[in-house]
Amino acid sequence: MNDKTQMPKANTLWGGRFEGGVSEIMEKINASIDFDKILYRQDIRGSIEHCKMLVSCNIISKEDGDAIQSGLKQIEKEIESGTFSFSAALEDIHMNVEARLTEIIGPAAGRLHTARSRNDQVATDFKIWVRDACDHADNALKALQLALVDRAEENADVILPGFTHLQSAQPVTFGHHLLAYFEMFTRDRLRFQDARKRLNECPLGSAALAGTSFPINRHQTAEALGFDRPTANSMDSVSDRDFALEYMSAAAISAVHVSRLAEEMVTWSSAQFKFIEMSDSFTTGSSIMPQKRNPDAAELCRGKSGRIIGSLNSLLITMKGLALTFSKDMQEDKEATFDAAETYELIIAAMTGMVEDMKVNADKMKKSTDVGFITATDLADWVVRVLGLPFRNAHHITGSLVAMAEKKGCDLDGLTLAEMQTVEPKITEDVFSVLSVEKSVASRVSFGGTAPSEVRRQVAIARERIG
Ligand code: ARG
Repeated sequence: MNDKTQMPKANTLWGGRFEGGVSEIMEKINASIDFDKILYRQDIRGSIEHCKMLVSCNIISKEDGDAIQSGLKQIEKEIESGTFSFSAALEDIHMNVEARLTEIIGPAAGRLHTARSRNDQVATDFKIWVRDACDHADNALKALQLALVDRAEENADVILPGFTHLQSAQPVTFGHHLLAYFEMFTRDRLRFQDARKRLNECPLGSAALAGTSFPINRHQTAEALGFDRPTANSMDSVSDRDFALEYMSAAAISAVHVSRLAEEMVTWSSAQFKFIEMSDSFTTGSSIMPQKRNPDAAELCRGKSGRIIGSLNSLLITMKGLALTFSKDMQEDKEATFDAAETYELIIAAMTGMVEDMKVNADKMKKSTDVGFITATDLADWVVRVLGLPFRNAHHITGSLVAMAEKKGCDLDGLTLAEMQTVEPKITEDVFSVLSVEKSVASRVSFGGTAPSEVRRQVAIARERIG
């Protein structure tokens, strides 16, 4: 008989792994300290400002206020230096800090919680954390945008097939392709900035749910904590987690963009495409196949985007059935959000590195425009422009020429003029001037088009837009 079986248990049927019975199970399901301790800075900052406000509103004495604030600063140092001992029995960061404050300054510590509750406290701490996460995302995206614009400028003249349905469609420039991602990441930054604006109202002082009878000054704490204003409704304040949902929505959409670029990089770096070569820093070799260079970082960016989407989903599902106001379900908000933020920042950093490092194989890109009759649209446009036929007729003529080339086993410019004239007698030698991919891309000078000249113009504007 081992020690475990001798321990008293509340219920031998369901208490199996838990030596201490019900209280141990409760502690394990209830405690959030393992993950919410990362909120300690926000918690202490919020408590210091709350304390200052209580003093200036004459709700607690200056002496107690001073003792509380110096105790809180000491706790911050203890946590930072690793000497603070966190206790699961004290549930969360808020109670761990308050309990330690009592040890340090005695009963005056109990005055800090006047006119507040853990409900408005956690909402405030968490909002400050998410606000910082929005700023980090914005900065990280800026670095990625810069990398994309630099590489776009460098590759403004590099020609590759542009695809629809993953079929060769029309030739494009690689600079133009990279700028497409620049646009996505620009929208992502705006989403984070917008979420930040909307979240920047301070819940502190909403207390448990109904507000407080103490003569507090919520404008003072809101301003001191960098918020634009206090929240308008105390019940909404303690039950709102939109800010975390909006952050994760922005992160999830952005992660989808990262994932799509990662997917293209995986394809481009394959032996069949060889459009790019990924650097050693972001690839691994195979333990058995010596020729391989696996695009692991790109694959993980693609893979981890699913995890961010999952985190968003989990909080949406947590929130959807909750009546006002706070329910303990909401404690599930943090792991999802923290994991999403950590994962998101990691994939943006990895993608920035991959974009900076990738070697572009311009010859291979150009070569793969040889197949797929990629200038067929240029030919049709020429028939419209020079012969004055309606586009639908031109489309039909071009289709016949493509079929002829396919049969002959050549590209469109491999047909002779005489062969072309069997389909449309009015075609002249001039048609060959539009069948090269260089001419094709150079002609697409419409606003936002793929021409190298247009890409250079877009790059200059993009640099200004990065800010
Ligand atoms: N640990 C809790 C959370 O993360 C803090 C709020 C607890 N409030 C309460 N009434 N039990 O959400």
